[in-house]
Amino acid sequence: MEQYDLIVLGGGPAGYNAAERAAHGGLKTLLIEKNALGGVCLNEGCIPSKTLLNSAKMYDHARHSEQYGVTAENVVLDHVKVVARKKKVVKTLVTGVAGKMKRAGVKVLSCGGEILGKTESGIEVKAGEETYLAKNLLIATGSTAVVPPIPGLREGLAAGFVVTNHEIFDLNELSKKLVVIGGGVIGLEMASYFNSAGSEVTVIEMLDHIAGETDREISKLLLEAYQKKGVAFKLGCKVTGVEQGKVLYEENGAKAEAAADVVLCSIGRRAVTTGYGLENLGVYLERGAIKTDEQMRTNISGVYAAGDVNGVSMLAHTAYREGEVAVNTMLGKPDRMRYCAIPGVIYTNPEVASVGETEASAQKKGYDVGVVKMTMRASGRYIAENEGGNGICKIVYDKRYHRVLGVHMIGGYPSESIYGAAMMIETEMRIADLKEIVFPHPTVCEVIREALFEID
Ligand code: NAI
Repeated sequence: MEQYDLIVLGGGPAGYNAAERAAHGGLKTLLIEKNALGGVCLNEGCIPSKTLLNSAKMYDHARHSEQYGVTAENVVLDHVKVVARKKKVVKTLVTGVAGKMKRAGVKVLSCGGEILGKTESGIEVKAGEETYLAKNLLIATGSTAVVPPIPGLREGLAAGFVVTNHEIFDLNELSKKLVVIGGGVIGLEMASYFNSAGSEVTVIEMLDHIAGETDREISKLLLEAYQKKGVAFKLGCKVTGVEQGKVLYEENGAKAEAAADVVLCSIGRRAVTTGYGLENLGVYLERGAIKTDEQMRTNISGVYAAGDVNGVSMLAHTAYREGEVAVNTMLGKPDRMRYCAIPGVIYTNPEVASVGETEASAQKKGYDVGVVKMTMRASGRYIAENEGGNGICKIVYDKRYHRVLGVHMIGGYPSESIYGAAMMIETEMRIADLKEIVFPHPTVCEVIREALFEID
């Protein structure tokens, strides 16, 4: 039986990054992935969506550039070409991950792995015809889209007119009428692309607001921006059924329907905990996900879980870090996973980026909460580049200890600057010290600095 220091099950961001770090740290590492390396993020999530959204952004810029003194005629977005480019981008990156594994000395198996159990000699995992033995196992099997038992939804998925993130990036024809069930991150990003590309888009969301836990004022600005672009939102509405050509829902107790040639189901994701012998280890689950501690350990010694499968924060960047914490723990290096400063971004146009507490969550936790708000128009760069833009930056802070608790932005490209705010929170710097940091000028992120100066 071939022996390893570490077997990683799942080659997404948690798994491949951990495998690389482990190999660099001197652990003999085996990575088992049954689909393409890169996982959901690279193949049917973060990267495909950003590729599509970039084409939409270019198209929007070209069509609405007169106010900047630029006129373009006969501008066309060719969805088939956009999808073809997406495939090229994904292929490049998947090949890149394979190269990384090779350079690090990680052995990669392209097949399903099955956990057989744990004995005194280690954890046994079967892959293909072979059984492998390891001192440590990192479970990084990710998550899958939730498809609830709404009448007709699963049948629609089988028939192909209902899609999840698994299918939507490969649609060869642009949807004419797209209905999105769920106004969360996936729903909004896809509504954004298809709206720009020319589809008629309706988002049905059961809450009275979009974008989940996002600062309410910011989610309202995003809603207004998309309503202005022509996306229809049915808020506080419950989907009751899906049929070929339409989605049935309830609005204020009355029956209603929305026409659709494609229906996107984006109502959340669940951890993948079945189909690979997890039950043979006796790993504890909590709310359907693998329960882990701050070192990403499960209740079984030598067995770790990182990424979406532990259900804590279903984001690729969290997964990277969790995988690193697990590997450091295996290597005996002190490390601990902290979730207080994990940025979240919605890559719509305008973009939304936030990190840390919102006013509501900070109040719930009992902080002495202060809030300052700054218009993005305080930035010369924003005005130069965003005709008529109404973005804002909000800072939530702790009045008692003079620390930043959260930063929330809409407008400009806050995805590129939010890590700076994450550092302010993670390092618990005092606001007086933050005011001494020099920001580049002219940049949109200067609004963070301006907002800090609103705090006494
Ligand atoms: P989500 O949890 O973000 O949003 C789901 C939405 O669906 C919620 O607003 C919920 O109220 C609504 N909903 C639930 N059941 C419903 C029903 N029956 N009818 C109508 N609305 C209903 O889930 P989403 O968008 O599927 O994203 C899944 C995960 O993927 C998230 O954890 C997210 O963090 C991650 N993701 C992150 C991205 C990013 O960082 N930019 C991009 C895409 C996904």
